Amino acid sequence: MSIIEKAVERLEQLQKAGAAAEPQTEVQDAVTAQAAAADVPPPAVAAAPSVETQKPASPSPAPMSTPANSDRYVEIDLDRLNSLGIVTPNAPRSLIGDEYRIIKRPLLRNVQGKSAAEVKNANLIMVTSSLPGEGKSFSSINLAISMAMELDHTVLLIDADVSRPSVLNVLGLPPRKGLMDVMTSKDVELGDVLLRTNIEKLSLLPAGTPHPRATELLASDAMNNLLAELAERYSDRIIVFDSPPLLVTTESRVLATHMGQIVMVVEANKTTRAAVKQALATIDSCPVRLMLLNKTQHASSDSYGYGYGYGYGYGYGYGHGSKENT
Ligand SMILES: Nc1ncnc2c1ncn2[C@@H]1O[C@H](COP(=O)(O)OP(=O)(O)O)[C@@H](O)[C@H]1O
Ligand SMILES: [Mg+2]
Repeated sequence: MSIIEKAVERLEQLQKAGAAAEPQTEVQDAVTAQAAAADVPPPAVAAAPSVETQKPASPSPAPMSTPANSDRYVEIDLDRLNSLGIVTPNAPRSLIGDEYRIIKRPLLRNVQGKSAAEVKNANLIMVTSSLPGEGKSFSSINLAISMAMELDHTVLLIDADVSRPSVLNVLGLPPRKGLMDVMTSKDVELGDVLLRTNIEKLSLLPAGTPHPRATELLASDAMNNLLAELAERYSDRIIVFDSPPLLVTTESRVLATHMGQIVMVVEANKTTRAAVKQALATIDSCPVRLMLLNKTQHASSDSYGYGYGYGYGYGYGYGHGSKENT
């Protein structure tokens, strides 16, 4: 059985056997081409109880172009973000913070070249999933912020889900120019649309002005050039791509070929095994693929801040007593 098949099977077992009752924070390099030892479940993110469905961005939409020196700086309301269940630098230790601390660890190891095998372009990290709504944006925002909170990592979060962009909206920011504008307008340079934020080490590249052929552009030469520019100009930066779902269009598969690492979000109790398998098969060119089980449920709805502490172990329960194929 291939590593991927094993991992998919584990996911299924996890979904059947325990995900609905246990807080899941186990981690591992769930599926990596180099690491065959996938004996542990994928890292998981509980459904944050306080997260509401996306609210519209804060009222006071600024025009696309704002005065010169404030133009490229945006202020994210961190308290609001925290209330949405998203990692923030100003919050005390939280469940979500702990979960992402675990999730980012294998990714950062590869970025720092600390893994057994060196990963090319390890700083280019794509967050994707099979279908819409599984938590790609939620995960990429959390991952990017969590990584930016590290002392020695500067992070650029790119909203590359250009037909359903949501990064700015989730961050409570009005629409801005971005990726689409760089690709479609000669007058717009990357440096014109990158945004600095009040999270010191985090910058953003919004999806930009909606374009009817947005997803096709993602697979275009212009995008290839942009990726090359990003890789060269920001080689010291971690670049997190919030990306389109793999089974809806083919563009993100092309995007995937440029990435050093891919985080594949799987929605607990929802994404089917067949969809996961199919989606993983489309990105097998990427050297490191890590699966992230999202929206797991806690035993009680008020278990945010529960007390299982920091003793993350591996191999919790499932697969030992549970019937594997029932
Ligand atoms: N772990 C989670 N806990 C609570 N809500 C979540 C979680 N992950 C995603 N959501 C919510 O589910 C919805 C879909 O997630 P989103 O990240 O927008 O999916 P995608 O980007 O894959 O389409 C959003 O309203 C988001 O806030
Ligand atoms: Mg999204």
